Amino acid sequence: MRSKVSVIGAGNVGATCAFGIAGKGYADVVLVDIVDGLPQGKGLDMLEAAPIISSDARIIGTNSYEDTAESDIVVITSGIPRKPGMSRDDLVLTNMKIVREVTQNVVRYSPECIIIVVCNPLDAMTQMALHVSRFSRFRVFGQSGVLDSARFRTFIARELDVSVEDVFACVLGGHGDTMVPVTRLCTVGGIPVSELLPKEKIDSLVSRTVNGGAEIVALLKTGSAFYAPGIAVAQMVDAIILDRKKILPCATLLEGEYGIDGAVVGVPVKLGKNGIEQIMEIKLTPDEASALKKSADAVRKVTKVMQI
Ligand code: NAI
Ligand code: 2OP
Repeated sequence: MRSKVSVIGAGNVGATCAFGIAGKGYADVVLVDIVDGLPQGKGLDMLEAAPIISSDARIIGTNSYEDTAESDIVVITSGIPRKPGMSRDDLVLTNMKIVREVTQNVVRYSPECIIIVVCNPLDAMTQMALHVSRFSRFRVFGQSGVLDSARFRTFIARELDVSVEDVFACVLGGHGDTMVPVTRLCTVGGIPVSELLPKEKIDSLVSRTVNGGAEIVALLKTGSAFYAPGIAVAQMVDAIILDRKKILPCATLLEGEYGIDGAVVGVPVKLGKNGIEQIMEIKLTPDEASALKKSADAVRKVTKVMQI
């Protein structure tokens, strides 16, 4: 039997992510938006692509949460994206109201689902969805590290002219300016990147990774990235629906792990059919641990604005 995945928000990220999931064929997809016609039109367009991409998934677009009933996974992308000059944190007051209302509706119709949060500021919005849903932290988490690590992997692969598949990178922390690309853990075909590139070059790729979202916002001018973010979510959905037990960095509520308590930040987790099945605690150097704590503090500052 096919699974059911609902994607809330049929904008750039939501539609890209829904199409990525629909292409796999293992889940029916429900696309929800408040704008009349938008999810219906995009959903029908995707359905008509199904014969070409050999997918038997049923894809519908709707304005009603009734259609999302008993979803296995719900992805929340509904919210405004940033414009040039804005930080992700500038979106908190608008998006917290949207995430609150959306989560209430999601929970009403799919009390057993796993929620993946995407809207920004990501870590605070994940905390809001956790607060409203009252689900366990293993069933509510956010997409950040898969995207940030993919950016880092891309830049390293292009610099060394090697396959992206051979590059492993791990970006921890909040999805913002304080994110922590852990270069010590970055390898190319198993070789530490520090043996292949000079420190100054690695530092410049780290800096490009941290500013990766802003780089695209500056180019697009009217919104933010969506291909890589949408497909990053689809990879997380894959890991859950196919019970792949993949180790991916996800925005997770920490309760003492890494010496951090009560903040949502990105750390490596094992993703399988139950959602987060294990939080992987890797031994960090004092500098890395201090950067992660600094990032958690920055997340706490934004989360505090929501007064939850
Ligand atoms: P978009 O503007 O293209 O789409 C947002 C959609 O949400 C619109 O279609 C809008 O009608 C809908 N929406 C607004 N309020 C709603 C509600 N109450 N119920 C249902 N739908 C509602 O924006 P885009 O580019 O898709 O980005 C969405 C969010 O994801 C933004 O907050 C953006 O910052 C964030 N984002 C996060 C990333 C991450 O890595 N975590 C990466 C890229 C974007
Ligand atoms: C990004 O990193 C906007 O958070 C989004 O591209």
